[in-house]
Amino acid sequence: MPRLGLGILAIGVLALFTATTAQKGCQDLVKSATHLRYFPIRDMRYSVVINPQKVSMRLPDTTSVPTTGREPDPGRDVLAATLVNPTAPAELDSSVARGTRKFAVTCVPCHGKSMAGDGTVAALFMPPPDLLAQVTRERTDGFLYSYIRHGGIVMPSYGAQVTRQEAWDVINYVRHMQKVSPR
Ligand code: HEC
Repeated sequence: MPRLGLGILAIGVLALFTATTAQKGCQDLVKSATHLRYFPIRDMRYSVVINPQKVSMRLPDTTSVPTTGREPDPGRDVLAATLVNPTAPAELDSSVARGTRKFAVTCVPCHGKSMAGDGTVAALFMPPPDLLAQVTRERTDGFLYSYIRHGGIVMPSYGAQVTRQEAWDVINYVRHMQKVSPR
């Protein structure tokens, strides 16, 4: 019996050290096994984390190739005056449904669920205007499109997060809310 125990111990020690010579990456594993304290590098409290709320969102690399072609930005005034909403009447309901989901993810943090400009981020940023107010009701679809895809005066551009189709979906949703909301 003592021989068996000794044998197991020898295999254990051998495995521990052969693993490290074969694979350098296991050095910390050895330290964590041979040091009584928990080796800090394996402790998630000390490892590096990317905190998505604390770094600015990065745009795609300048050399990346757009799959739908580059969209020129002739300016908000031109887009506001010339862009026509391409949604076919039969498509409207499904577009509004898609826009509802997109708005909830991308716009609600600032504009708020009820579009009143009371999203959780608005307090830290700058309170946006009420999208159901008369001013925005009177804007053209092209104006809204330009705001979403190319950014506003303060509002960042969401061209990288919101595709053309998604922008029209969101616009149709905003228009729908303006129609059904008493504000
Ligand atoms: C980071 C916060 C933020 C997010 C996210 C955001 N906005 Fe804005 N938005 C603002 C601010 C602030 C303004 C007002 C300042 C300005 O004109 O740039 C604004 C203004 C607007 C306006 C102009 C309203 C008007 O009549 O003048 C529209 C339209 C708009 N946002 C739509 C959207 C839509 C749709 C989304 C989602 C795709 C979105 N915003 C996401 C902050 C945000």
